[in-house]
Amino acid sequence: MPLILNRDDVIKVLRMKDCMDVVEKAFAELANGTAVLPLRTPITPPDGLSLYMPAYLKDLGALACKVVTVYKNNPAKHNLPTVIGKVLLQDPETGDVICIMDGGYLTAVRTGAASGVATKYLARKGSGQTVGIFGAGVQAKMQLWAVAEARELSRAYVYDISSEAVGKFISEMTTKLDLGITKVDSPDKILENCDIICTATSSATPIFDGSKVREGTHINGIGSHTPNARELDTTIIKRSKLVADSYQACLKEAGDIMIPIVEGTIDKSHMYAELGEVVTGKKPARQNDSDITLFKSNGLAIQDVAAAKLVYDKALEAGIGAQVEI
Ligand SMILES: NC(=O)c1ccc[n+]([C@@H]2O[C@H](COP(=O)([O-])OP(=O)(O)OC[C@H]3O[C@@H](n4cnc5c(N)ncnc54)[C@H](O)[C@@H]3O)[C@@H](O)[C@H]2O)c1
Repeated sequence: MPLILNRDDVIKVLRMKDCMDVVEKAFAELANGTAVLPLRTPITPPDGLSLYMPAYLKDLGALACKVVTVYKNNPAKHNLPTVIGKVLLQDPETGDVICIMDGGYLTAVRTGAASGVATKYLARKGSGQTVGIFGAGVQAKMQLWAVAEARELSRAYVYDISSEAVGKFISEMTTKLDLGITKVDSPDKILENCDIICTATSSATPIFDGSKVREGTHINGIGSHTPNARELDTTIIKRSKLVADSYQACLKEAGDIMIPIVEGTIDKSHMYAELGEVVTGKKPARQNDSDITLFKSNGLAIQDVAAAKLVYDKALEAGIGAQVEI
């Protein structure tokens, strides 16, 4: 009988540190050839967009498919969120569906986890570092949580065009992480003060001036994953040692990379490595303290599948969820 896990069940068992561990393994599987990862398949019914994200991870023994929909009229017309996600987890031995779980919180944690892994390998070493977060929404909170797992931080800075979002971010995350968080009123304040930067906004145009980024900074760019939208300007892309979650996804989905390629400023060889190549040591990570390193994340199904298997195992251990005969 499949196990049904709602959002609260997922929240109860999913910890960032555990998720970073399995997401790191998933990226290693991608580099080692033991992962199967088709590109996400989109279908566009009249009112929205439906995305199918399957993957298989041989070493983790995980097989699943996430279905995410983006329906802009949902809140006004149906009193439902714009973005809805569910994961269908299967037993790789029998193919049978063993669990159906909510995918909203899981998506945010696995997106944070990929940035956490990238930060662990690419940011400068050392404690007492500072992090700057662009955006104060759902993903931004998980970015901060992940970076705080990867490095011992002295302070965080947050910038968002919505001061209401910043207020909520600071009150929630200060308590959660026991970390001082400062609201800043301009993007430059983050560039001046921070060793690590995460961009997690809904902006479709560049959110800061890439010429002002300090040498040695590490950036996780996780917003904007459509060909015509970008958070990062051409200057910072050009100045950075660029690590992709997947070359293929970056060339098909990431305006941050695709727009500078179309402009003729860079070509695809500017992508130095995939994250999996870095975690498996196939390509060295940061080579000196002045490199600007940049991880471009589009979000891969391997992250969902690794996180879903983790949630399922933890839920069984904790005895939570509902078994339902289908
Ligand atoms: N890479 C991945 O795996 C992945 C996964 C999920 C979501 N995302 C993307 O992450 C982004 C954020 O998603 P979310 O769920 O947190 O959205 P959200 O709506 O909860 O938050 C987005 C925030 O960005 C702020 N913002 C918009 N323009 C800004 C600007 N110029 N400067 C500073 N702040 C600005 C908004 O005010 C808002 O608070 C979206 O682009 C989404 O598609 C990426």
